[in-house]
Amino acid sequence: MTDAIPLIRLDGDHVSLVFLRACENIDLIYCGPRLPGDQKLEELAASQQYGQHENQPDHPPITGIFPQTGGGYDGPPALEIVQSDRVVDPDFRLDGFAGSDRQARFTWADESAGLQVDQLWEIGTGDIVRVTTGLTAHKQSATVVTASSLVLPLASRFDRLTWFPGRWAKEAQETKLTIDSRIMDMSTHAGKPGFDGGNWIMLADSGQGDQIGIHTSSLGNHNVQVFRDFDGRTVAKMAAHCPTGGISLADGGSSDLGVIEFCYAPNADLMTQRFQDYVRNEILPNRTNWAPRKVHLNSWEALSFDLSESGLMQLADDAAKLGVERLVLDDGWFKNRRNDRAALGDWKVDEAIFPNGLTPLIDHVKSLGMDFGLWVEPEMISPDSDLYRAHPDWCLHGQGDDRPTERNQLVLDLTRPEVRKYIKHALDALLRDNDIAYLKWDHNRRLFPDNGCQQDGIRELLKHMREKWPDVEMEICSSGGGRISTAYLRHCHRVWPSDNNDPIERLPIMQSWSRFLPLEVLGNHVGPSPNPITGRQTNMDFRSKVAVFGHMGVEANPADMSDADRDCLAAHIALYKQWRSVLHSGDYARLDHPDDGIFAHMVVGGDAAIGMAAQTGFGENFNAAPVRLKGLVPDAQYLVQLPKPWPKKASQYLPDAGRWGDGLRLTGQALMQQGLTLPLTHPETAWLFTLQRIVS
Ligand code: GLA
Repeated sequence: MTDAIPLIRLDGDHVSLVFLRACENIDLIYCGPRLPGDQKLEELAASQQYGQHENQPDHPPITGIFPQTGGGYDGPPALEIVQSDRVVDPDFRLDGFAGSDRQARFTWADESAGLQVDQLWEIGTGDIVRVTTGLTAHKQSATVVTASSLVLPLASRFDRLTWFPGRWAKEAQETKLTIDSRIMDMSTHAGKPGFDGGNWIMLADSGQGDQIGIHTSSLGNHNVQVFRDFDGRTVAKMAAHCPTGGISLADGGSSDLGVIEFCYAPNADLMTQRFQDYVRNEILPNRTNWAPRKVHLNSWEALSFDLSESGLMQLADDAAKLGVERLVLDDGWFKNRRNDRAALGDWKVDEAIFPNGLTPLIDHVKSLGMDFGLWVEPEMISPDSDLYRAHPDWCLHGQGDDRPTERNQLVLDLTRPEVRKYIKHALDALLRDNDIAYLKWDHNRRLFPDNGCQQDGIRELLKHMREKWPDVEMEICSSGGGRISTAYLRHCHRVWPSDNNDPIERLPIMQSWSRFLPLEVLGNHVGPSPNPITGRQTNMDFRSKVAVFGHMGVEANPADMSDADRDCLAAHIALYKQWRSVLHSGDYARLDHPDDGIFAHMVVGGDAAIGMAAQTGFGENFNAAPVRLKGLVPDAQYLVQLPKPWPKKASQYLPDAGRWGDGLRLTGQALMQQGLTLPLTHPETAWLFTLQRIVS
């Protein structure tokens, strides 16, 4: 039975949500800054009602948080169901409506179809609202064709959509659209969050600037629709669990319809800080106990498949001299893996490369004061592998012998218990027999044909790893940023935002992911020049400065660098180490600049701050406009410095270089209003700036 009171108010630290029971639906009549305690909810509800017009049902429907066809609602419904081979028009009645403080629970039941939907809303750290939805079949089996995890009706003033579509090596391209009556549909069918964007979105009031950030927290496919309903209100309808072929429920069965996380904030920077706070406090495993994020050297763009024990030992020696703290051995270390055409699934060390296993290399790495990480791609199998020859049916495949490959590989069918057991044994053996501190867990293809339940298997494997190997750090990679979601971050320590280490491409990618995720989980590496993907040449100073803002690493061979470049890189690694406690705990803000070619951001942590401004183009004016800072105390005095090394060419245009060497004393007000005039003169110029509050 429903509660007698038709209104519920939830309060976070800075936000309020107000729900109104409206027949069998629930309207979200307020989602914004925290309301004064004495706001009368009935009066608020009365101020939000529309009257009936001529061309409407006599009881005009609303979209609400649970729209269903029937009653005259003609927009996209929350659920579409097939029972006994026919599409049924569900008739869910509101059966539970309760909540207070930071939590509300709603239930809808359809007696004749025997289905029940349960939804839990919770306000967590950073005022992130987490909505969890489940569906249960009581009487008969059903297939749910469309199952929203959340329908979020918002005020019509939220008129701008930002989403992050991309592709391999050009992930998360921030794209803005005006919301109109069209349904904007953003989906992936790759069996993973993928590159298509839509699972991270922002809805903004373009006049006022306030933002609602939303994440569809899924291990697999998602579907997100944004549209204006018949009353002109903005609606975001999200599904975090949409397996290929729909969700099949047996009689008595239930399905988790996934989790949506969203947050209201008065501007984009605060939205970012609230999301990052939430990820740090509620998503990342054991975040409070993390050691400083070690500088990596990853072998992929240094050596590719050209691996030898002596070559790797040399790489480790060279890495240690730069100040690197972890050597990550990427693809190519296992039996018969000489290229990307063979051996996935055979997770045994290749004796032709490592006659005595990995131990001599690991011992060598450790003797240099570093630890060791290893690349794996556990969900995959190469047709040319011992595993495939022994178990040709263990891969996802369609009817008959149709086994379409991507990157020459197939996907293991994780619905099979023997497959999950095999993977766990293989990984457990590797970690038991070798002193491995870190695993880079890759996934280099789409799921096709899909079994619809692969994600249950991956969840089980990731949980196994966390429980059995709590001290082993993990990175989630999927040809770069193909699997970035809080659903993965619950089990791992970082993601790989892109295979593209070209700093000019990497800057916008990093800024996009940073809209929601803290820098410590975003790997950011100094790659070779020319860049193997784009072919672009960039100088070491620029590559290094860009990589400081993230979890810094190197993905190039120091032996191929000049002495000057090695010195430059080592100096930036030292700066990263000096500043990582601020970078990885402070408040991140993007610094806007009138020149589209300039990317700037900063992190403020207590009395200290570090920022970076980078010029990627050749500006309209030779002298770039000042970079205006954010997040400072207006009345406080700061010592502002430009840490060395400086960009060589641009530093010739820095007047009064001596004064900059000592640092300038400036108030927060001056820095935020007027900003810093930096010589951002040529493409590939970046400056780091640091601030320390002066306490008199
Ligand atoms: C993917 C990853 C890369 C690298 C290669 C190895 O492309 O994204 O970082 O690990 O696989 O094959």
